[in-house]
Amino acid sequence: MRSLPVLFASLALASTASTSLAVDFNTEIAPIFAAHCAGCHGADKGLGRLRLHSPEAIEQGMKDHSDLLIAKDPDKSELYARLVLPKDDSKRMPKGADPLSEKDVNLIKQWIAEGGTLVTADAPAAEAPMEEAAPAKKDVPERPKLEAASPEAMKAVEATGALVIPLYSGSNELRVSFPSSREQVTDETVAALVPLAGQIVELDLSGTKITDACGESLKQLVNLDTLHLEKTGVGDATVSWLVEMPYLAYLNLHSTKVTDASLEALKSVAALEKLYLWQTAASYDAAKALEKHTPGLEVNLGWDHPGVVRERLTEELARVEAENAAAATALEEAKKAMESAEATQKASADRLGEIKKQLEELNKPAEEAKPAEGEQKEA
Ligand code: HEC
Repeated sequence: MRSLPVLFASLALASTASTSLAVDFNTEIAPIFAAHCAGCHGADKGLGRLRLHSPEAIEQGMKDHSDLLIAKDPDKSELYARLVLPKDDSKRMPKGADPLSEKDVNLIKQWIAEGGTLVTADAPAAEAPMEEAAPAKKDVPERPKLEAASPEAMKAVEATGALVIPLYSGSNELRVSFPSSREQVTDETVAALVPLAGQIVELDLSGTKITDACGESLKQLVNLDTLHLEKTGVGDATVSWLVEMPYLAYLNLHSTKVTDASLEALKSVAALEKLYLWQTAASYDAAKALEKHTPGLEVNLGWDHPGVVRERLTEELARVEAENAAAATALEEAKKAMESAEATQKASADRLGEIKKQLEELNKPAEEAKPAEGEQKEA
């Protein structure tokens, strides 16, 4: 039997979060970074290889520093942990300045605890200290404004143990995840999300018990732009249900049963920008073909995928070959220089011997023909 206290706790969390209490990155967090951090981590300066002046910059930071922002775990996230170090700790941020106010620190903590999303609310530009948004990409349609979910639909979905939060405060766009009940999530749970099909834009089903039987329900969530299916039992059949999703930009299939057939099918998802395929049967060639087919798409096969290893080694090969050739030339030149120095030394040694000999010769007769006593040869 599922544990009731856990279920209640997640329901309580879900209902507080789904009233507009969620921290909004754009209006609440970005201004803190702009005021206290951007001097060193901004558009002009990237100390510690970190910039915090835009969502894109923070995303890059997350790539460069794996523990910068761990969704739902502020204590493990450098972005929060560095703020609450003892005052004399040299790693405390902002460096060399007074600590942030308790209110700001708590906002950042809550924001990360809620998932640390970087989605920018479509608030008036004046409020946003962000740089201009990334250029609108390719011919992917804009998602129309979504209608608010009905309270009944919200309740029905929350009753599955889902955590339902708006993407930013006041937004009708919803993010659904199962932080405390992954183990209980099945294909039926996915079917139970359908009442919110119009509002769910981010869905995290990672690590759940879903199978390919969930595809038909998933297909109805037509507004999805972010879908986590990693570490589940889904395969090509599920992916075949996703191919008509107009806005799907992020798809994580890490550690699933998908094969190259999924990659072929995903060619029809024009919005796709990020596709994760670590530890799957997907091939390097199919991944490259898909990237080529879909502009702006980055397929991630994982660091240890044989094709990726080959690419990395091939690049390194070229570099090391060039290095090796340069070193060989340098060695050749050094050898020549050494030979020439040796020749010079030998020649001068020979000459030295000759000069000494000649001088000795010159001195001999003078000694033999000793001047008579008292006679001064030289003044
Ligand atoms: C006066 C300059 C300065 C200011 C202001 C500043 N930082 Fe830093 N920060 C640095 C330097 C230098 C480093 C690299 C050395 C280090 O890791 O301590 C750094 C490193 C970091 C790192 C570690 C990155 C990593 O994972 O290696 C984080 C996180 C960070 N800063 C966050 C912040 C935040 C958040 C603020 C604003 C509240 C801030 N910093 C303000 C100078 C600054």
